[in-house]
Amino acid sequence: MLKPLITIIIGARPQFIKHQPLQEALEKSSQIRVLHTGQHYDEKMSKVFFQELGIRTPDVELSVGSSSHGQQTGKMLELIEKDLQQERPCLVIVYGDTNSTLAGALAASKLQIPVAHVEAGLRSFNRAMPEEINRILTDHCSELLFVPSDTGRAHLSQEGIKKGVFFVGDIMFDAVLHFREKAHQESRLQKTLKLETEAYYYATIHRPANTDSRSNLQNIISAFGALDFPVVFPVHPRTAKMLQQYQISFPKNVLPQDPLGYLDNIVLLENAKAVLTDSGGLQKEAFYLKTPCLTIRPETEWPETIDQGWNQLISPERDSIIQALSNLEVPSEQRPVYGKGNSAIQITEIIMNWYRTCNSQQGIA
Ligand code: UD1
Repeated sequence: MLKPLITIIIGARPQFIKHQPLQEALEKSSQIRVLHTGQHYDEKMSKVFFQELGIRTPDVELSVGSSSHGQQTGKMLELIEKDLQQERPCLVIVYGDTNSTLAGALAASKLQIPVAHVEAGLRSFNRAMPEEINRILTDHCSELLFVPSDTGRAHLSQEGIKKGVFFVGDIMFDAVLHFREKAHQESRLQKTLKLETEAYYYATIHRPANTDSRSNLQNIISAFGALDFPVVFPVHPRTAKMLQQYQISFPKNVLPQDPLGYLDNIVLLENAKAVLTDSGGLQKEAFYLKTPCLTIRPETEWPETIDQGWNQLISPERDSIIQALSNLEVPSEQRPVYGKGNSAIQITEIIMNWYRTCNSQQGIA
């Protein structure tokens, strides 16, 4: 049997992390072609992940860059379609919920190329988030849906998607397990910043609901300024732009950083007293590394982290943030709701079985 040709679409920071374990597992049995849309393009938002995680250079770089959502998704759609028409892979894999995810899924499904969605079934039930629209549409044009949690399966079932759904756990857990030791060996940032373990907070903010509202962003930064420990704050480019536009300056105890690589991120996250974030990925990484998390959002796609007491939703108000941190309780245990950290191997086995079944059906026809 010939090795299947599979195209994988990546484009934004969390996708590089999800991609590493799957590429490693999948390339033993398939021919992989990787398309990087260029949604994230900076050295610090993109290149550093390829270097640190040892991901090979993508086969195609579409360099679409930033623009409005429609324009960015549209440019990707056009360029991905061209590539898929030429190469005709038997499957397209997309990760998560970004504009790159949706563009990849749409381009493939319009050419009747089956789509596999890694991190399927997640819902925030907030349609004002572009990611929520991206998730729903991607799930509805996917043939293989890899859910990270039982909740994901239940959401898909409620929307009538029951076939092709597989619980495989969270692929970001694979990455944490794989790189944690290396991170502790190689990352120097905590030392450089002279931070004692559990005597600082780690914070990231990039969602438009927080960054594109002057009062929300001001409240969040001012809450950071009122905390009892230093706050390490890697600043996403969107957040940097808005902080400058609103002329918000950093309080003394806030240590702004350029966006960090994966290894520094893991160490700073694991050793922090708590994390404050609006990122989806960080909520789970905090959970795996047993760091309590405050999520500055009205909802989360990872409700299991809340149910178990490791995560709390909090409004972007100064007093709520300060109070939540002063009442922080750290749970003593954790149930492994997101699998065992072997998602990539499971996904590979399911894809190879699917491929064999398709091939034998075509043979019979
Ligand atoms: C995207 C995803 C979000 C994910 C996040 C991870 C969508 C709709 N959103 O949001 O789900 O959590 O990535 O970071 O796909 N910029 C740079 N350099 C870069 C990349 C972006 O300066 O390398 C700037 C752009 O000019 C833009 C802003 O950052 O103004 C936002 O980038 P964009 O790709 O639109 O979305 P993210 O907020 O990063």
